[in-house]
Amino acid sequence: MEQSDIYGGFRPVLEQIKETFEQRISDYTAEEYEKTGIKIYEHLIARVKSEESAAEKCIRKGLPQTPHSALKVLTDSIGIRIVCSFIDDIYANIEKIRAFPDCRIIEEKDYILHAKPNGYRSYHMILEYTAPFADEDGNDPGTFYIEIQLRTIEMDSWASLEHKLKYKKNIANQELIVAELKRCADELASCDLSMTTIRDLIEHAE
Ligand code: GTP
Ligand code: MG
Repeated sequence: MEQSDIYGGFRPVLEQIKETFEQRISDYTAEEYEKTGIKIYEHLIARVKSEESAAEKCIRKGLPQTPHSALKVLTDSIGIRIVCSFIDDIYANIEKIRAFPDCRIIEEKDYILHAKPNGYRSYHMILEYTAPFADEDGNDPGTFYIEIQLRTIEMDSWASLEHKLKYKKNIANQELIVAELKRCADELASCDLSMTTIRDLIEHAE
């Protein structure tokens, strides 16, 4: 299988589904803003995983490099990251996502309540979307997967810095850096809570 064919011609379909979900998020956000004057996320990034990354992930997971592996076994060909100002905005988004039509939530990981040992925090959801067209296995209606990560700005800035470290091998003082990053993650988590308190104080003062 050519690496460029790992989506078996389904890349345009993935792009289209990505846009459908960006639109859904944009719609509930506008609706919520109308009602409350609050923008429940700060920014959003959506991507279809590159063919190279999908192929590399298949190898890493011991899967054959096929469209079935990339689209049906792996569940992050479509990824959306929603970055919020406050932790309670994350849970407001989750409620809206749970109500999406034609979707089943097949996995949820709350790394906010249960941070990873390295300090990583984020809320992950995997949606199974039943689409009004066929998938690469020939099912019609077809099913597709979307991974959604929800984070605060603080969690996001930590994750991007920590991600860089993973690609720097044989780094000096690795242990110290890992420990310092963990300390920063915990301090940022504490700031996230304080920021919510400050926001509430400002709102009550109004
Ligand atoms: P994958 O094999 O990557 O799918 O891991 P998993 O199935 O154990 O999933 P998990 O939900 O833990 O992580 C999926 C994604 O979350 C990763 O691809 C990253 O984008 C992000 N992530 C998870 N853990 C970390 C972490 O420790 N640091 C950073 N920077 N990102 C993480
Ligand atoms: Mg995963």
